[in-house]
Amino acid sequence: MKVIQILKHQNICLQITAGNEKVMQIPYFHSMEILHVSAECYPVAKVGGLGDVVGALPKYQQKLGHIAKVVMPMHRTHFLYENSFEVVHKGTIRIAGKAIDYTIIKEKTNRLGFDLYMVDIWGLLDRERVYGYDDDIYRYVSFQVAVVDWLSHWQHRPSVVHVHDHHSALIPFIMQHCFQYNFLSEIKTVLTIHNAQYQGWMRWDQAVFLPPWDTYKWGLLDWNHSINSLGAGIKCANKVNTVSHGYLEEIRYHANGLENLFEYERGKCFGILNGIDTEIWDPETDNYLEYHFNPSNYIENKLKNKKILCDRFNLDIEKPLIIFIGRMVGEKAADLLPQAISDCIRYMEGRMNFLVLGSGSSFVESQLEEMKSRYFGFYNSLIGYNEELSHIMYAGADFLLMPSRVEPCGLNQMYALRYGTIPIVRRTGGLRDTVTDYGEPNGFGVCFNDTSVGDISHAVYRALLLYEDKVKMKNIIPQIMQIDHSWESSSQIYINLYNA
Ligand code: ADP
Ligand code: GLC
Repeated sequence: MKVIQILKHQNICLQITAGNEKVMQIPYFHSMEILHVSAECYPVAKVGGLGDVVGALPKYQQKLGHIAKVVMPMHRTHFLYENSFEVVHKGTIRIAGKAIDYTIIKEKTNRLGFDLYMVDIWGLLDRERVYGYDDDIYRYVSFQVAVVDWLSHWQHRPSVVHVHDHHSALIPFIMQHCFQYNFLSEIKTVLTIHNAQYQGWMRWDQAVFLPPWDTYKWGLLDWNHSINSLGAGIKCANKVNTVSHGYLEEIRYHANGLENLFEYERGKCFGILNGIDTEIWDPETDNYLEYHFNPSNYIENKLKNKKILCDRFNLDIEKPLIIFIGRMVGEKAADLLPQAISDCIRYMEGRMNFLVLGSGSSFVESQLEEMKSRYFGFYNSLIGYNEELSHIMYAGADFLLMPSRVEPCGLNQMYALRYGTIPIVRRTGGLRDTVTDYGEPNGFGVCFNDTSVGDISHAVYRALLLYEDKVKMKNIIPQIMQIDHSWESSSQIYINLYNA
């Protein structure tokens, strides 16, 4: 028996033959080293789904046999104080002529299942919040330059630098067109767009934040007379992907000004649906839950989780519980919640209960708070961020409402499905890809088309009818809990994208 060939293309394999007969074809495994660059990574720092994705995808890439690493800013979160780190590199970069020292620290115990590196720049990155400072542009350009500078000191080259959203989208440009670093230009780069609404716009006078660059290439930075970090990433990265197919289609028409660029670059743009970390998000083992359950025994314990919520928030366990969890911003259509919830309670005579968890627009927050006394017993809310409560809500609720105007993927609906909570979603982006209306064959959710108070109320009405149909509910709940949205397949698709 002998190995006769290694085919070095897409279907790389070893062919083992006996005489003329091919007896075995073994995939020839090529381990890659992937450096993810991101502003967020759960459980270190999370504002939304970006944190969840960057906390999970590298772990699953490691499980596939690759070496995945994450580098992020050294935010001052609990994780920093509760874990041990070692210094692995110290360097100096120049931003607008000013020398800035940076330090790269590495978490010592491989706690996340992959190597975690953090960039510390005194006074700039070592802050409590991830975003929301006046000097965010300066902070994040400094972060990106420090990452590339550190990379330029590695003794070897990683296979791919995978950047996420606009906070790291200038990196492909820096690696290709800044004189000091362009020897890194052969390293492949991939940009994942989690949300094209935010683009990291910079005035042209802020171009001096970048290390000296080839000014013939100014067009790669420019979009509509300003520097557009996300646009530069789309132009310079070898491959670009959005976090669902549905969103990839939509951004050709709605991309906050970048529509033409997406159309022009469509040849290198792909849609890869996010997964969920099924080790963390598992109703059978979830550390935040007192009562665990699975598809065959969910009835009793899902109800016990609902009771916890109803007791704490003065709601009626007999009625369907509809929850909303998320950032209170226009993309999530949080501004429509106060009116939609009021209409539902009034017109449907309080036949359902609502519970809202989130923070964002202070106007929406105050409207939602003010409704608590008006609809006492039918509605409640908690303004703020609460990871533990979010898990109990996914576990205890009957329905999850997501009326999003824009939803590149959406993880909430996937968590809800796994916890037996039926999603009520507007048909957009990833919601369209992951939820099928219960009126369609094999459907299990409630879908609607327009982001309007009327459509939300009608969808809630349909949810109410579904809730009252006990036979249908008994079929749907175990069905949705078993839908596979794990990272297993999507993490391999990313590897294929790096290799393409
Ligand atoms: P986005 O990233 O646009 O906010 P996703 O659906 O991708 O939306 O992910 C949101 C993530 O943030 C989910 O893990 C959700 O449970 C979590 N989340 C959002 N708001 C809150 C909150 N107020 N408290 C706890 N978790 C929250
Ligand atoms: C963004 C999107 C959200 C997506 C998340 C993770 O925050 O708004 O839809 O699920 O990124 O990719």
